[in-house]
Amino acid sequence: MPDIMTPFGLAIDLETGDMVAATNRLVRRASDMRGYYADAEALDRLIQEQDDPLHYEVFELPVPPENGQLMYCISKLQPGQVGQEFFMTKGHYHSVSATAEIYLCLAGRGYMVMKTAEGKWATEEMMRGRMVYVPPHWAHRSVNTDANETLVSFCVYPGDAGHNYGDIEREGLGKRVFQRGGDIVLE
Ligand SMILES: [Fe+2]
Repeated sequence: MPDIMTPFGLAIDLETGDMVAATNRLVRRASDMRGYYADAEALDRLIQEQDDPLHYEVFELPVPPENGQLMYCISKLQPGQVGQEFFMTKGHYHSVSATAEIYLCLAGRGYMVMKTAEGKWATEEMMRGRMVYVPPHWAHRSVNTDANETLVSFCVYPGDAGHNYGDIEREGLGKRVFQRGGDIVLE
């Protein structure tokens, strides 16, 4: 018999996403996002003029990264734009591509932008109380389209899924989300 893990519980503030028990905090600043936005010069200006602002954070209290476990996290994506493109996460496939993920949005507004390696793409709206199911084999990225509010979501995915960022860094997500004359536009 394998070692049996001890059950546990923890608190998550459903307004702010604060997970006090988290031991891991992944921080992405604007400078970590070089190469991801359409307007590289606008990103450089943002880094210089706003002293490399916080872009997004992921909070975890990790469980063993094994088949059968469920990894979970809180993601907080700041509001803002790089040129006319809304702030977004890097986006990734899972290293074990055939693994799904659930995102439950707790605050803010935005989109989950998704694509397959074959070039299919999809978006789902994110807003408080809305869940998005990302099926196996779909790369995924969240985009914050609110002017002021942080986009907060709770995610759950298989413990052995892992993250593959490199493919999306090279090939992009297929669609970008811009503010064009007051409208939110996918291009
Ligand atoms: Fe994921």
